Amino acid sequence: MRNVLYFTKRIHSFAGRILYLNLIGMMLISLFEGIGIFLLIPLISLTGIFDFHLEESSPIYSIYRIFQGVPKNVSLLLILAIYVLLIIGQGFFQRNQMILNGKIQQGFIRHLRDETYKNLVQANWDFFLKKRKSDIINLMTTELSRVAGGTHMFLQFITSLVFTFIQISIAFWLSAQVTIAVLLFGLVLIFFSRTFIRKSNSLGNETVELSKTFLAGITDHFNGIKDIKSNTLEKSHLNWVRSLSLKMEQNVNELIELKTTSQFIYKIVSAFLIAGFVFFSIKMFQAQSAQLMLIIVIFSRLWPRVSGIQSNLEQLGSLIPSFKALINLQSECLKAKELNEEDYMDVDPIVIEKELECQNVYFRYDQNQSTYALQNINIQLPANHMTAIVGPSGAGKSTLIDLLMGLNRPEKGEVLVDGIPLTSDNLLSLRRSVSYVPQDPFLFNGSIRENLLMIEPDASEEQIWEALKFSASAEFVKRLPKGLDTLIGDRGVRLSGGERQRLVLARAILRKPFILVLDEATSALDTENEAKIQAALERLKGTMTIIVIAHRLSTIRNADQVIVLEQGEVIQKGGFSQLANEKRGMFSNLLEKQINNL
Ligand SMILES: Nc1ncnc2c1ncn2[C@@H]1O[C@H](COP(=O)(O)OP(=O)(O)OP(=O)(O)O)[C@@H](O)[C@H]1O
Ligand SMILES: [Mg+2]
Repeated sequence: MRNVLYFTKRIHSFAGRILYLNLIGMMLISLFEGIGIFLLIPLISLTGIFDFHLEESSPIYSIYRIFQGVPKNVSLLLILAIYVLLIIGQGFFQRNQMILNGKIQQGFIRHLRDETYKNLVQANWDFFLKKRKSDIINLMTTELSRVAGGTHMFLQFITSLVFTFIQISIAFWLSAQVTIAVLLFGLVLIFFSRTFIRKSNSLGNETVELSKTFLAGITDHFNGIKDIKSNTLEKSHLNWVRSLSLKMEQNVNELIELKTTSQFIYKIVSAFLIAGFVFFSIKMFQAQSAQLMLIIVIFSRLWPRVSGIQSNLEQLGSLIPSFKALINLQSECLKAKELNEEDYMDVDPIVIEKELECQNVYFRYDQNQSTYALQNINIQLPANHMTAIVGPSGAGKSTLIDLLMGLNRPEKGEVLVDGIPLTSDNLLSLRRSVSYVPQDPFLFNGSIRENLLMIEPDASEEQIWEALKFSASAEFVKRLPKGLDTLIGDRGVRLSGGERQRLVLARAILRKPFILVLDEATSALDTENEAKIQAALERLKGTMTIIVIAHRLSTIRNADQVIVLEQGEVIQKGGFSQLANEKRGMFSNLLEKQINNL
């Protein structure tokens, strides 16, 4: 029941007024149906099968009376005409109500989808470091469509509820005693059906878990399909999928079994109930035959509805976990919200006049761990100069860059832009001025042109080629049969590693950023192409702030400042040649090794 209330609140807050309109529609439909039942009385009395012996106090007597004054053949026509009108009216409202239901359902799902996506993309970087992408995809696709089914179920549930309520009211009006007796039985039945609802709820939880695991697994497998094939891991992966597949099958079968069992029990109990009820009402309540007949008609139509409510509740129970998972995701996103809606309005890029600075910065990925990924960082990155960050793998170079871009937030200390602390007020304008080439460059599945224009939609053909020349990729793009319009596949798989890197570099430069951040951006290039890019960077020097991470020290020969990191700490900083001359320092050490290796 709690679950249903939860759903109601959500849909109500979304649909509001329309839901009431829907409710009124349902009431009218049920009323029409109720009136239809009453028409049976004069109809039957016309046929003369029954003798009604109606008492004047009886509620249906008045209906009976209306038709008594009318000549027999006219009254037959009258009853049939009313009947036809009722059906037309009912059909009309039913149609509108179904359309309305569809609108509520689809609108609610759209709202849920848009809202969830918005919250997701506005969540901070930390959120994405901790969440599996496949879980998010699963929620946005499979679970969302299950919620859509749940919404449908919910509306049906409300319809049944309204219908039941109105029919019961009519029955109550006819004979309070009989109705109360039947209702008591019904309540007992619903009470016992709670176990079924609980069971289907737990099966629903299992469904969500299984589909999450499945998606995570196959995403992983296909991302690593090359490793799987080259290491002949097909069999073990196939086994994994098979066993999970089996569990998914069992889960659904169990749900079906549960549903059919409860329906079966319901049917049996209902049969006993109706039989018992007819027996007792005739023997004990001495109900008038007309009333009794009407109540039997009402209840025999009502029972399927009541059992419908029961099975609706069960199905809702199994779908609520999906809904909850979606709502949980939303609230997690909101907790990890980086900026407010209005912050995303047009912001201008920051122009750094003096420097980017880290003051006493400490950062760790996991608050529960004692080791810091970065500690006691005090550095200045002067504007329009080139700063290089070097150090062994795992030293914290990429982490430092994420901090400078405001993706990670320092646990202690501050990142300052021209002396102003980096907060949500200037975060977005800082990012607007940054072009970033990450260590694992990402290209979207599309053409080269689309990938470039994504960052700068208004770039002209000329600017595109200029950027391609900068990154030493103009030649290879020209050689492609379709040039800029060549499709490059998922993540750019149809290009070589170095080509991909150069394209991402072109994309970064196309934006004409104030700050250019390159994390191992030339690691996959041959020396010739790397030298070209190095020369291009040299030309850019003085026009923008450049931050470069490189293992190959030749790349950073022109840097104005070199920062050496080791195990999360700055151990050396200064000019390239200055550090090269500090004989016992880590930097000259690294330099020496690289020269010796040549
Ligand atoms: N998402 C993460 N969650 C937890 N720890 C992380 C995460 N990313 C990095 N780390 C840890 O932080 C430390 C610094 O990682 P970082 O990626 O900054 O190194 P790096 O200097 O860029 O290394 P490389 O040269 O190999 O790219 C590493 O010890 C790493 O294990
Ligand atoms: Mg790195």
